[in-house]
Amino acid sequence: MKILSVVGARPEFVKLAPLHQEFASAGIEHVIIHTGQHYDNSMSNVFFRDLGIPEPAANLGSGSGSHGKQTGAILAAMDDALQEHSPDWVIVIGDTNSTLAGALGAVKLHFPLAHVEAGLRSFNRLMPEEHNRILTDHAADLCMAPTEVAMGHLAREGLSERSVLVGDVNADVLAATVAKVAGDEPTLPHGVRADAPYYVATIHRQENVEDEARLRGIVEALNNASHPVVLAVHPRLRERAQAAGIDLSAGALRTCGPLPFPALIRTMQSSVGVITDSGGLQKEAFLLRIPCTTVRTETEWTETVDLGWNVLIAEPAELGSALRRAPPLATDAQPYGDGHAARHIREALMR
Ligand code: UD1
Repeated sequence: MKILSVVGARPEFVKLAPLHQEFASAGIEHVIIHTGQHYDNSMSNVFFRDLGIPEPAANLGSGSGSHGKQTGAILAAMDDALQEHSPDWVIVIGDTNSTLAGALGAVKLHFPLAHVEAGLRSFNRLMPEEHNRILTDHAADLCMAPTEVAMGHLAREGLSERSVLVGDVNADVLAATVAKVAGDEPTLPHGVRADAPYYVATIHRQENVEDEARLRGIVEALNNASHPVVLAVHPRLRERAQAAGIDLSAGALRTCGPLPFPALIRTMQSSVGVITDSGGLQKEAFLLRIPCTTVRTETEWTETVDLGWNVLIAEPAELGSALRRAPPLATDAQPYGDGHAARHIREALMR
């Protein structure tokens, strides 16, 4: 069997790692196509290196651009890549523009398509990720859902027959990474001590960084936190803050660049809380049992909220009180599967 995975952005590289290991150990030929959506060393290459993923067979070099231009550039380059490798399955992961473009490329040439992390919904039709995940699920021949909640969404959209509950590949990669970083020191910017409380923060979503007033409000709220905030800055945030003249190192804020995955996980482990608008971090915080505050009006990972480990704040001004809330109750719930999602995915593909 030959499987071709299309990836392009940071969260897809992380989720690709356990899939690649699973396919390689089962002797499956695995071709990786990088769309080029993320291109900085710190957003792309370090993930391949740290997570043991081999060099992609091709990089489509799409780079940045408006949604239509980025998605269209990837789609235009997909035909040659697919025809050259002629896989038995095409895999796309998550909800980025690379996911949607890879999915369209596969179905138009009649290659069987599997969507990993299928069935997530925010019900916010303004998010580019929401369009990407709905369209990809409906294009796919096989929807691999991470949670029961995701299975419910797929059922409501008439997709039950091609959906399978496999668990979350994020839980697989997190468990492997936690074992690897045991004994490492957290990665902390100047002025943050490992033996004193600190928060870890990431902010990058379009709805938070594109609106200058909202971005200003978020940065001000982070400035006023009662412990240092280690902010791992995404290139889009750096760009927008610079353009608006917003200082990312005032008050409690201590800034560093995007962190490699193992360093991020180790740094989160020693923190007293995570503040984010990322989907992955909300879940990783829960799996590490670190309280999370999410700067969004809704989440796809509702289990983290229902179990009390994640609080959503619609307005930046709510951050202070959210951070002062009582610690969550301990739980041994495992809504994200048994840590063997990659194996369940391989088995479903072979079936
Ligand atoms: C994308 C995904 C999002 C995911 C995120 C993780 C879409 C619609 N969104 O958002 O779901 O959570 O990746 O990071 O696909 N840039 C660089 N260097 C890079 C990559 C990006 O400088 O390596 C800058 C560019 O200015 C670019 C901007 O960041 O225009 C935004 O990048 P883009 O790929 O459009 O989306 P992300 O915000 O990264």
